[in-house]
Amino acid sequence: MEHYKHFLSCNVILLLLLLTLPAVVHGQGAVQQPPSPSPAPPVPLNFTFTDLRLAVVYPVIQAFKLTITSDPLGITASWAGPDICSYTGFYCDAPPDNLSATAIAAVDFNGYRLSAPTLGGFIDLLPDLALFHANSNNFSGTIPSGIARLPYLYELDISNNNLSGQFPSAVFEIAGLSFLDIRFNSFTGSVPPQVFSQYSLDALFINNNNFIMSLPSNLGSTPVLYLTLANNKFTGPIPRTIGNASSTLTEVLLLNNLLTGCLPYEIGLLKKATVFDVGNNLLTGQLPYSLACLESIEQLNFAGNYLYGEIFFKVPEALCGVESLANLSLSGNFFTRIGPTCWKLVKSGVLDLRKNCIYGIPDQRPYWECSRLLAHPKVCPNYWWHWHNYVPCKISHSPPLPPQNPAGKSRPGRPPSQQARPASVSVTYRALTNHHRL
Ligand SMILES: *[C@@H]1O[C@H](CO)[C@@H](O)[C@H](O)[C@H]1NC(C)=O
Ligand SMILES: *[C@@H]1O[C@H](CO)[C@@H](O)[C@H](O)[C@H]1NC(C)=O
Ligand SMILES: *[C@@H]1O[C@H](CO)[C@@H](O)[C@H](O)[C@H]1NC(C)=O
Ligand SMILES: *[C@@H]1O[C@H](CO)[C@@H](O)[C@H](O)[C@H]1NC(C)=O
Ligand SMILES: *[C@@H]1O[C@H](CO)[C@@H](O)[C@H](O)[C@H]1NC(C)=O
Ligand SMILES: *[C@@H]1O[C@H](CO)[C@@H](O)[C@H](O)[C@H]1NC(C)=O
Repeated sequence: MEHYKHFLSCNVILLLLLLTLPAVVHGQGAVQQPPSPSPAPPVPLNFTFTDLRLAVVYPVIQAFKLTITSDPLGITASWAGPDICSYTGFYCDAPPDNLSATAIAAVDFNGYRLSAPTLGGFIDLLPDLALFHANSNNFSGTIPSGIARLPYLYELDISNNNLSGQFPSAVFEIAGLSFLDIRFNSFTGSVPPQVFSQYSLDALFINNNNFIMSLPSNLGSTPVLYLTLANNKFTGPIPRTIGNASSTLTEVLLLNNLLTGCLPYEIGLLKKATVFDVGNNLLTGQLPYSLACLESIEQLNFAGNYLYGEIFFKVPEALCGVESLANLSLSGNFFTRIGPTCWKLVKSGVLDLRKNCIYGIPDQRPYWECSRLLAHPKVCPNYWWHWHNYVPCKISHSPPLPPQNPAGKSRPGRPPSQQARPASVSVTYRALTNHHRL
């Protein structure tokens, strides 16, 4: 059911794309393709294709069908005959360069559980593809560099497969790519910084791979709304440039990596952010006061780090006054005190302070653990001391939290602030489960 809905919405996007994309002229050269690796069976003589473009991809599909080693749902049985547009998983439409032609515009194999040793010789030889969705299959090997020659591709979802090798850098040559999802595979090595400068991208999901590298300094150049780097081995500090993404960045998942250093105040510039999650890293220092400027934030997770409070190790009260907060987790850190605004959030279940050093609330760390870290708190760099008190906004929350917020910028129908507020559904948190695995 989900797939169906998903595909419908994609089709709408596809239609929009095909209607609005400025026609990119298919040069003569683009029609020439390198030979397919496996020899395709000959095309039966009595086959007539409704379009030359379908005749060209027929042998590509048949050659790929021969490489499929497991097809538990019997999908490929329909991949026979000249009517390619009726093959299960293939969708035809008019390509942008010739609105009277018919071409394979989309492949949607989500959840089909097909096994094949490679996608090479297939995806790279379907020149009119706009969408390629193949999550939750068992495709192995690396991503063919020939995908660089797919001029219309704008959504590539190959998540939850068995793909490996380096980050597929060929995607940088696809000018209109807006959605890149390679999560839940076995990609390794580093992520080329160009991915953060690829201005066509709206969403980047690379969580649950084996990427190892320090976050590059151009991270903040990213135009994406959704940035999901969780469950890898990213190291180093969060780059200060992250604030440059303040007009776009909406959900940021950096949890379960190996990030170090102190939180830059520039995080507080992310006024569009609804989710910011750096849980389970090695971050230290204090929470910058600027976090009180996260005016859209609903889910803020710093759990499982080495953070401690402001002066006297207290959680900043201004942060607890942010009205949009639905879930603030500071559990598993080294905070020692909280003020009245934060207390209210603890009582309403919004603020989780378990496993800290605050005596008087249940489930805290043993005294020796607290004294050991707090006796030698990690030192943040000089610039950090200069900026951590800086508040780059006018804080308008009326402290302490009002019982009701009838007017103002908050969403309609919000329950009284004394109660835990439900967060709106996050796009990226759902990306942390390997979806569609059947
Ligand atoms: C092509 O011919 C074969 C027999 O030679 C027949 O089985 C098949 O149905 C024909 N296909 C079409 C599309 O006419
Ligand atoms: C557009 O596609 C149609 C149908 O395939 C074809 O007859 C026509 O020659 C094509 N036009 C151009 C300019 O290539
Ligand atoms: C996935 O494919 C590999 C071979 O490429 C095979 O060994 C493995 O059993 C397949 N897994 C499933 C769940 O089909
Ligand atoms: C991935 O492929 C390897 C061999 O290529 C296979 O042993 C393994 O079972 C596959 N993983 C899954 C989840 O199918
Ligand atoms: C990006 O961020 C850095 C560090 O915060 C800043 O120095 C720089 O001016 C910013 N660049 C742009 C284009 O905003
Ligand atoms: C709050 O956030 C924490 C950390 O991300 C998460 O474990 C917890 O399930 C969330 N609670 C709710 C009610 O969403």
